[in-house]
Amino acid sequence: MSSKRKSMFEGLQSHKKRIAKTSMSQMFLNDENRFDRFSNSACGILFDYSKNLIDETSLEALFDLAREVDVEGARNDMWAGNKINFTEQRAVLHIALRYDGDDEIEVDGKDVMPQIRSVLQQMQQFSDGISSGEITGANGQKFTDIVNIGIGGSDLGSEMVIKALKPYHRKHLKAHFISNVDGAQISDVLEVLNPQTTLFIIASKSFTTIETMTNARNAKKWLSNELGEQAVGDHFVAISTNIAACADFGIKEQNIFAFWDFVGGRYSIWSAIGLSVAILIGFENFKKFLTGAAQMDEHFLSTPLEENLPIIMALLGVWYRNVWNFPTKAIIPYDQHLNRFPAFLQQMDMESNGKSVNKAGERVDYETGAIIWGEPGTNAQHAFFQLLHQGTDIVPVDFLIAAKGHEDMPEHHNLLLANCLAQSRALMVGKDLAEVESELATQGLIAPHKVFEGNRPSNTLIYEKLDPQTLGSFIALYEHKVFVEGVIWDINSFDQWGVELGKQLAKTLLKDIEGNKSNSKNDSSTAGLLRFLQRLK
Ligand code: F6P
Repeated sequence: MSSKRKSMFEGLQSHKKRIAKTSMSQMFLNDENRFDRFSNSACGILFDYSKNLIDETSLEALFDLAREVDVEGARNDMWAGNKINFTEQRAVLHIALRYDGDDEIEVDGKDVMPQIRSVLQQMQQFSDGISSGEITGANGQKFTDIVNIGIGGSDLGSEMVIKALKPYHRKHLKAHFISNVDGAQISDVLEVLNPQTTLFIIASKSFTTIETMTNARNAKKWLSNELGEQAVGDHFVAISTNIAACADFGIKEQNIFAFWDFVGGRYSIWSAIGLSVAILIGFENFKKFLTGAAQMDEHFLSTPLEENLPIIMALLGVWYRNVWNFPTKAIIPYDQHLNRFPAFLQQMDMESNGKSVNKAGERVDYETGAIIWGEPGTNAQHAFFQLLHQGTDIVPVDFLIAAKGHEDMPEHHNLLLANCLAQSRALMVGKDLAEVESELATQGLIAPHKVFEGNRPSNTLIYEKLDPQTLGSFIALYEHKVFVEGVIWDINSFDQWGVELGKQLAKTLLKDIEGNKSNSKNDSSTAGLLRFLQRLK
């Protein structure tokens, strides 16, 4: 027997069948207002979703689906601080981190806003102190290099945002990131640094993650070797929910920045995890980044479904995943500074919605989270766009582009804009055989190779300029999109048990690798690989 969700998705098949009989190009010809009908703006972002395989009737059916699963009720539950991450018994309140109003936001009957404001103040004092040179290294030298040591949600957000906001950097400061347990990364980073002027930020919600703790211990050793152990307290700060472990590591009490278990790792860039961002772009700009997110929260909370950007985006996600069965989704920023945005969204989306049991613990009988991938344009055009245009899988794309670049280089920016618009149009209109033949006077064998089926969907998101506020709004837009999809799929988007098994097995295998037999029974492949490695080591 199919589940209620599955029946709901099956109910949308008739709309798909109707739409499959026509083409997007034809729908544009039939309706000169299609762009106006299927585009909306919020927080300075224009969201054009007119180049999708939809019509008004199918969209209405999708809004009905959102109502039927009570997306609005789920949204209110999140805001109310209810423990919607029920497998970890946690509230989900990253929205509180950027809230700037007077209302209380409660968890277990306690307002969380005073502690959030207090850490923000601590971040402000610290980032101002580093920037002005008031806070110095052990020997009184000003810091020039900030190294964030963390992984996953304690790395991807700050790295992505710092890269995205390069035009706002304090020019006398440089940021570096160490995440991988591969010694190559920490060696490469430390090689170019002067310990006298280097500040390490250990970012780890749990303060137990093996990669982060291994890197942190070795950074501490490197610094102690150069400056003596007594210098550690002046060169290391920590961000964590595990305050005791930070103190054990040797971090001074005033240099421990707290956050809370109602903030998931992949939703934590708004917390003290954003400390490196605040240092690099300055606290005022960090506040604008929070404001941008808060504005998107407000939009998500108060705009009717039919004009609500995250809700429309999520419904399109479900439409393609569960009705059209498209397995992946590409994120293509035509904005070089957003080059880590696809990787950041990969964690946000795939760690949240890569689930196969519903809230009742039953195996779902429909697809959940899509595979998220992408690279900046125009580079992507010269790499994998071939498959987007002529491959057998259809990949819905989000194109992101700023109307204006930060650089005064109109020739470059106009080319960027033209390419971005050309790609979404090419995906949609395609080029049929007759057109190819008449254009090239080519027939027979070659012509079919030059045909583009077209009718391939995309969203285009345009903003004026990539500034802190807009970036904040963008991230919040995708956060809420992921949330709404999770509600429709009836899954818990806020745990990540799927990463645990590999961690456990790595602990056991480490013993085998180190030559201390773990007594675990390995399959013949793993055992064979271990033997081969031992011979080469
Ligand atoms: O293993 C996955 C994960 O738990 C992510 O969810 C998290 O962002 C990352 O590891 C890092 O965790 P922590 O901040 O506790 O070091």
